[in-house]
Amino acid sequence: MTHQDELKKLVGEEAVKFIKDGMVVGLGTGSTVRFMVDALGKRVKDEGLSIVGVPTSERTKKQANDLGIETKGVDEVDHIDLTIDGADQIDPNFQGIKGGGGAHLWEKIVAINSEKNMWIVDESKMADQLGSFPLPLEVIPYGSKQLFKRLEIGGYHPKFRMKNNHYVMTDSNNYIIDLHMSKINNSQKVAASLDHMTGVVEHGLFLDIVNTVIVGRETGPEILH
Ligand code: 5RP
Repeated sequence: MTHQDELKKLVGEEAVKFIKDGMVVGLGTGSTVRFMVDALGKRVKDEGLSIVGVPTSERTKKQANDLGIETKGVDEVDHIDLTIDGADQIDPNFQGIKGGGGAHLWEKIVAINSEKNMWIVDESKMADQLGSFPLPLEVIPYGSKQLFKRLEIGGYHPKFRMKNNHYVMTDSNNYIIDLHMSKINNSQKVAASLDHMTGVVEHGLFLDIVNTVIVGRETGPEILH
């Protein structure tokens, strides 16, 4: 296991301590969340912990179900107590970029419907300013090349996310365009502009959403509120 993976595992294991019997828990997506779901599965098996998970991707749903964690869709629950998710970059004001794993649309839907949101990250994700991690957009395939041109003209430095010469598809069968802006000076303004672009389903700026961040550091997990 790499050192970064050890830190991801550390925060994943720390996060499940916040899960109590009977909770409805949003389950994020990504390699850090994978460790958290493993630890949660262990509590379900060993302690008989009874929770309902609301997964934010087909990947997470499969992992949870394989571990014996009951899951429901976001429209099948009447509330979500706490969502635990990873992040790609977090600034000192807890504003973040998500979507490196291409799941930010479902992640944002689950997050905004959760009473509390927690991010778990290794320390490399903490940044003074957002933007050096490319900002993902989930976009409707129809007209996406025209949208791409508009993004280029707007100075967003877009790139379609590709794998093996194919467009990466999301769980909602959309494409991803990553914006290589280097620096995001005004994240509220950028978010508002992208919110109004036809063809953009959702962007990966998660602003004013998270209450708690657990950072994996050399010295152990640091819990920030
Ligand atoms: C997926 C996400 C992930 O939470 C984010 O990419 C972090 O992933 P990882 O834990 O693998 O570094 O937003 O859409």
